[in-house]
Amino acid sequence: MAVQRTFSIIKPDATKRNLTGKIIAKFEDAGLRVVASKRIHMTREQAEGFYAVHKERPFFGELVDFMISEPVVVQVLEGEDAIAKNREVMGATNPADAADGTIRKEFALSIGENSVHGSDAPETAAEEIAYFFSDDEIVG
Ligand code: RTP
Ligand code: MG
Repeated sequence: MAVQRTFSIIKPDATKRNLTGKIIAKFEDAGLRVVASKRIHMTREQAEGFYAVHKERPFFGELVDFMISEPVVVQVLEGEDAIAKNREVMGATNPADAADGTIRKEFALSIGENSVHGSDAPETAAEEIAYFFSDDEIVG
């Protein structure tokens, strides 16, 4: 498997509880490298655009309100098989279903306040990276 880049967000429930470093350590321990990072407070427009794929879902309003409630850390992770590896380290969407040792098992509060986002495919990774970062902000 080739070296890939994927997009990651440390969500408001985690930044609020000062868990940024503990979560990044999980990525680094799994062999993923942070090659771009910034702490931002998303606007409603940014969050609605980012989650546009979910706009018909019943949880959309709640999800957008949550994502703009506190700062987030947006980042690009790089490594072998980074997209799948990131999803593995994150754990299942619902922390009740997440495997031991995963970020969501250890830190998530609920299916909504689940501490991290990660791209789910090469196409979405490329789109999501470009949504928040210009090429010169990514330093591999
Ligand atoms: P993510 O996109 O954040 O990495 O998470 P995911 O792929 O595991 O989950 P996805 O189905 O894409 O859902 C996106 C986010 O919406 C929130 N959600 N809430 N209340 C609910 O039933 C519900 N379901 C999903 C979660 O914050 C989820 O990560
Ligand atoms: Mg998703």
